[in-house]
Amino acid sequence: MADGRLKDKVAIVTGAGSRVSDGVGTGRAAAVLFAREGARVLLADRDEAAAQATRELIVSEGGVAEVFVGDVTREQDCERMVARAMENWGRVDVLDNNVGIGSRGTVVEIGQAEWERVLEVNVTAMMLASKYAVPAMAGSGGGSIINIASIAAMRPRGLTAYTVSKGAVVSLTQALAVDHAKQGIRANCIAPGPLYTPMVYSDGMSEELRERRKQASLLGIEGTGWDVGYAALYLASDEARYVTGVVLPVDGGVLLRGPER
Ligand SMILES: NC(=O)c1ccc[n+]([C@@H]2O[C@H](COP(=O)([O-])OP(=O)(O)OC[C@H]3O[C@@H](n4cnc5c(N)ncnc54)[C@H](O)[C@@H]3O)[C@@H](O)[C@H]2O)c1
Repeated sequence: MADGRLKDKVAIVTGAGSRVSDGVGTGRAAAVLFAREGARVLLADRDEAAAQATRELIVSEGGVAEVFVGDVTREQDCERMVARAMENWGRVDVLDNNVGIGSRGTVVEIGQAEWERVLEVNVTAMMLASKYAVPAMAGSGGGSIINIASIAAMRPRGLTAYTVSKGAVVSLTQALAVDHAKQGIRANCIAPGPLYTPMVYSDGMSEELRERRKQASLLGIEGTGWDVGYAALYLASDEARYVTGVVLPVDGGVLLRGPER
């Protein structure tokens, strides 16, 4: 484990818990995989118990992780989060900006308060976490920022606030990649397709909808938090040293689906 693909690296994962205690979302999956590959991981979450559950998983496998309790929509918390990683381990190599919330409705259906909340959680939080992580990464020669977007950015379907927020995540990623390349920082985003994770099933999902989401992909299989976690692991590692500014769909080919011939 200490000799893994993230040997000697320090990673911060936001939203590293899961809204379902024994569920595996994209944040928990990435945190576990980073630790398995030798990273020391700061598990940032506003829900302490959720982050502790991830820590227990990691520690039970012999990995190293600490919990940071904070709300990433607050600037002070983002500043404290990066400071905590620096105090604990003296460097920051990876920031996985994973926190995000869903939203349904067209512009006619949603209100201003929801619009603003979605942009705050899905975009502003990534900007704030990056604002403090970039100087820390630059101080040790560079790093990797991974932002979790969604194929909704490229494929609007009645989730307007969510689509707009994830489109902004793509633009934020490209801006980070251009502005901080000289400091050795890579920035990439992952655009997941429909996954079966606590984020979407915690309020209940019918078997029929679950099957429809599965069949939306070319492969006809169900995406999970682990699929996004493995993509994040690649982007976090030095194997991706020549990769920056990309949008990596992890969607089983959903984006390529069209009318059948
Ligand atoms: N599930 C899907 O189908 C799907 C598809 C596309 C994109 N995504 C994206 O994947 C990500 C979902 O992550 P997950 O599966 O780990 O989700 P999750 O809903 O299980 O949340 C993970 C953790 O985030 C924490 N959290 C929420 N708001 C926070 C805040 N403001 N500050 C700190 N912590 C906060 C929660 O407490 C929770 O423990 C989102 O960015 C989402 O948009 C999911």
